[in-house]
Amino acid sequence: MKYSEFSDPRLVAIYDTVNPIGEYKAFYLELAAKLAGDRGTLSIIDLGCGSGQLTCELAKQGHHLVGVEPSDAMLGLARKRATNELAEPLAADSTRTSQSRSISPVKWLHGGAQNLGAFEADLAIMTGHVAQFFLEDESWQQALRSIHGALKPGGHLAFECRNPLVQPFLRASRQMAQRESQISELVSENSDCSEQFEHIDWPSDTNRRKVFDPVAGAVEWWFQLLSVEGERVLYEIHYLFESTGEKAISVNELRFRSRDELQNSLIDAGFTVDCVYGNWDFQLADGDSPEFIFVARRS
Ligand SMILES: C[S@@+](CC[C@H](N)C(=O)[O-])C[C@H]1O[C@@H](n2cnc3c(N)ncnc32)[C@H](O)[C@@H]1O
Repeated sequence: MKYSEFSDPRLVAIYDTVNPIGEYKAFYLELAAKLAGDRGTLSIIDLGCGSGQLTCELAKQGHHLVGVEPSDAMLGLARKRATNELAEPLAADSTRTSQSRSISPVKWLHGGAQNLGAFEADLAIMTGHVAQFFLEDESWQQALRSIHGALKPGGHLAFECRNPLVQPFLRASRQMAQRESQISELVSENSDCSEQFEHIDWPSDTNRRKVFDPVAGAVEWWFQLLSVEGERVLYEIHYLFESTGEKAISVNELRFRSRDELQNSLIDAGFTVDCVYGNWDFQLADGDSPEFIFVARRS
């Protein structure tokens, strides 16, 4: 079964340790604050909210959140996080703003974009590259139409996709290729994958990443590329639990759409693209940017 990182209880249990919330947290908090302006808070749909890391951070800022997630196991993590983090008394949390804002309970919805309905939300977000999980044009376009229908007129949609030209998956496979000659052909076919993208790093078998989970202990994890077909990249995430020697593999597939494709798909679904940022510092995107972070508006 694909994507077991979101369903296998052993992998869901270590998900937050392997995938701690990154630089994108500050970006989306600031974006929400900017869009809220004088109103102060927004109603926000977090589609593909996963373990609810960003959902809860936005809720702590006083926004009204709906977390939508197709994986039962991930939604379970998100609910638990909300119980632990959002029930704290306001004064105990130094990350909140000095003006005391009440925290609305997050509404959780098991499902996907098709379950959204007419929320009349101010903002919808898809973070952690959720947009790349929509492999087919049809499912992507349907999701955009559903999000459009769930927003207020003038409401915003923000999400990010990795720039396909950066090809992080090939970097990981290149490291492998030094050891395993059978994939070196694939790498040389794509040799325009430039060294200038050194900062993009998918750990490989020869360059594993080790994390320490409070319950599971030390876990090594790394990527293995299986195939690149057009914009679709099939790969495995390997896990090794050091204390038990247990191994697990999640087979994943992502779609790397071009900036133009993403822009056109938004326009087709009835959005106007306000901005495309290239990284988490609010710089506008160019051809070399690691990310395409779209901020679009329901026309
Ligand atoms: C990499 S995680 C990101 C989670 C979260 N947004 C974050 O920033 O931490 C991707 C999430 O997208 C969810 N997902 C995958 N396909 C989806 C789809 N078609 N619609 C909504 N969510 C989806 C997965 O279940 C998973 O929880």
